[in-house]
Amino acid sequence: MNKRLDIEKIVSEMTLEEKIQFVVGVGMLNHKDNPKGKVYGAAGETMEIERLGIPRTSYADGPAGLRIHPDREGDSRKYHTTAFPVETMLASTWNRELLRKVGEAMGREVAEYGIDILLAPAVNIHRNPLCGRNFEYYSEDPLLSAEMAVAFVQGVQSQGVGACVKHFVANEQETNRMTIDTVVSERALREIYLRPFEIVIRKARPWTVMSSYNKLYGKYTSQSEWLLTKILREEWGFEGFVMTDWFAGDDAVKQIEAGNDLIMPGRSFQYFANRGSEVAEIRRAIEGGELSLDVLEERIKAILKVLIKTPAFNSYEYSNSPDLDAHACISYEAGCEGVVLLKNEKALPITAGTPFVVFGTGQLETIRGGTGSGETHPRYTISLLDGIIKRGLAADREVVEFYRKKIEELRGGDYRISYGQWNEEIRPKLPENLFERAELEELSERNEAALVVISRISGEGKDRRLEKGDYYLTDDELELITGVSQAFRKKGKKVVGILNVGSPIEVQSWIDLFDGILLLWQPGQEAGRILADVIGGHVNPSGKLPTTFPNHYADVPSRSFPGEPADNPSVVSYDEGIYVGYRYYETFRVEPAFEFGFGLSYTDFEYSDLKIERDGEELSVSFNVKNNGGAAGKEVSQLYVKAPKGKIDKPRIELRGFEKTELLQPGEEERLTVRLPVDEIASFDGYRWIIEQGDYEFLIGASSRDIRLTGRIGLRTAGGDL
Ligand code: GLC
Repeated sequence: MNKRLDIEKIVSEMTLEEKIQFVVGVGMLNHKDNPKGKVYGAAGETMEIERLGIPRTSYADGPAGLRIHPDREGDSRKYHTTAFPVETMLASTWNRELLRKVGEAMGREVAEYGIDILLAPAVNIHRNPLCGRNFEYYSEDPLLSAEMAVAFVQGVQSQGVGACVKHFVANEQETNRMTIDTVVSERALREIYLRPFEIVIRKARPWTVMSSYNKLYGKYTSQSEWLLTKILREEWGFEGFVMTDWFAGDDAVKQIEAGNDLIMPGRSFQYFANRGSEVAEIRRAIEGGELSLDVLEERIKAILKVLIKTPAFNSYEYSNSPDLDAHACISYEAGCEGVVLLKNEKALPITAGTPFVVFGTGQLETIRGGTGSGETHPRYTISLLDGIIKRGLAADREVVEFYRKKIEELRGGDYRISYGQWNEEIRPKLPENLFERAELEELSERNEAALVVISRISGEGKDRRLEKGDYYLTDDELELITGVSQAFRKKGKKVVGILNVGSPIEVQSWIDLFDGILLLWQPGQEAGRILADVIGGHVNPSGKLPTTFPNHYADVPSRSFPGEPADNPSVVSYDEGIYVGYRYYETFRVEPAFEFGFGLSYTDFEYSDLKIERDGEELSVSFNVKNNGGAAGKEVSQLYVKAPKGKIDKPRIELRGFEKTELLQPGEEERLTVRLPVDEIASFDGYRWIIEQGDYEFLIGASSRDIRLTGRIGLRTAGGDL
C-alpha cells in the first residue's frame, strides 16, 4: 500500500538548499570520495531528507539482469543476481508473455535487493551492426522493440518497483556518445527512433525515462524542452520523471528548465574536475533569478510523485534472497525461445548417443552477455561445453580435455571471461586453429558431426570494429572452419556453426562451409543448458531474427555511421531516414544473408484461411497456422503491411503486428489474430500523421521475405487525417 503523502506539503516544508540538492543524485557511489550506497554496486541514489520522511532511493542497471556487486566487505554472504539473455535475444523470442515473465523475475530481484528503479529497458534501434551496445537493444524495428519493452516494463512494475526506458533519444552509437550531435529527419525520428518510447509510455506507463548522452539537432537531449516537455509530456502524457544518463549534458540549469527532473549520478564531489557540481550551478541560477523556484519545485514534485510508489518510501522489508533458482528457469526458458536456427541441412538435432566434436574456445569462454553497465554478476555461467556434458551428449572427450588444458595454459589458469572493460589488451583473443589436418581427419573418423563455436563480445563506451576478429572472422577462425568442414564433409558428416554473438557478424563468405548454423546470441547464465537442449532436440528452436544479417557491410544503409569527421566524429546524420534495416533492404531490393523475421524450426508450419475484418477503428487479421512436420514447435507469424502509393514515399513493407503460437504438436492447428488499430499504419509527413487513402496489402509471413498469405483492404478516412 503506498503511504499517503502530501507532496505539496512536503515541498513547502523543504528548505531552499534541500530543494536544490534534491534534483541532483548523491554522486557516483562507491567512489573513493563517496560513501558506499544503500546497495553496494547500485548506479545511483537520490538524497534522504529524514525530517520530511524522504528516504534514499536506489537505481541500478540493467537490461540483462540486476547489476549490483555480489560481494560486500565484511559480509560473507553473496548478492548474486540472475543473468538473463541479452535484449536482442529476448526480442528473438517475439514472445510478449515471456518478456513479461523476465520482467517480473528481474523486478522481484530489484525489490528483494533493496533497489527502487531498474535502469532498463533500453529501446534504441539497431541502426548499424557495429554499435557496441546493440546487444542491449531489441531490434531494428520500432514495433518489435516497443512490444518487447511494453511487456518487460509491465513485468518489472508489477513487482512494485520502477522501470526506466532509455536512452531517450537517437543514441545509436558509442563513438563520442557524450558529445555526438545526431541529425535526423523528423519523420525518421518519429516513425523509427521515438516510436518505441511513445508506444511504451502510452501502453506501459514506465515510472521513469532516461534522457540520452547525445545531442539532437545541436542540443543535448537532456537539455531539450521540445523532447522532454513538448513531446514526452504534452504530446504523449508521460507522468513519471526524467533522469539524465550518467554525467550527461553540459548545463544542469538547462536540464532542469527543459524538463529533465533528476541529474544523475550527481557531481556532489569533484569526481569530474572539469565540471563544478550541478548543485552549485543550480544554486547560482536560483539566486540570480535565471531559474525560477516554480520550475525547480515542479521537477521535485515529478520526482516525488514517482518515489512515493517505491519500496523505500513504503519501508519494504527486502529479503536479500530472491528465488534465484526459479529465475534461472525463466532465464533458461527465455534463452531457449531466443535461439535462432539459421541453416539446417539435416544437421540438427544431433540424436542422443551420436558422437560429435566441439571446436572453438568459446565452448569454455562462453559469452553470456556484453560489458559495461549492461553486464551481470550471476552465481554461475554454464559454458557451452559444461551444458553439453551435463546433458550427457556424446562430445568427444579427448577434445574436451584438450580444450580445457589448452585454454588453461593460454590464460595462465583462469579461463573465465573477465567482464571488466572489454579490450583485447587485457584479454587477447585466443588462437582458434589448434589442430593439424591429420588430427581433424582422425576426429572425423570417430565422430559423426562437428560443432564450431564463434564468439564475440562488445560493450558500452565503444563501437565494434569492421575488422577480422570482430565483424569479420579471423584468419585462424576461417582456417579452423575450413579444415573441419573439409575433413567431415568429405565423409558425409555434418558441420554446424554456433554463433555466440551480440550483434550480426559477416557470414556470407563462409556459411557454405556449414550444413547448419545456430544463432545462440548471448544467452545469459544458462547458456550451456540452452545450447545442449536445442542441439539435442529437447527444445525445438522458435526464435526469429529481430535484426537483419546483411550480406555485405557495404549493404548497410547507415553509411554515415559513426559520423563526421571520420577521425573524431562530432555529428552523425541519419541520411537513410526511415530506411533502417529491412525497410531499406526490402524497398531497394538488397539481398540480405538472413532477413528480418527469419528463423527455421525442426518442424514445418502451414498457413491458411486469412481473414481481414474492420471493427471500428481496429483491423482484425486472423489466420490458421498448422504444424505440418514431425516435431512439436512454436511459430512466430508476422503481419506486414504494404501501403498504396500516396503523397509520401513509404517502405515497401512495414511490420504492423505479430503473434506466436502455443507449442503445437504435429498436426495441431491454432488460429492467430493480430489486432491492428487503423491509426498505427499512419506515416508522419513532416508535420502530422497521415493515412494514405487506397488499398492496403496485408502480408502474413514466416519472415519479412517468406510470405505465406496475402490479403487486401481498402482504407478511406475522412480527409486523410488521422
Ligand atoms: C551508463 C549508461 C546507462 C546506465 C547508466 C548507469 O553510462 O549509458 O545505460 O544506465 O550509465 O550505469
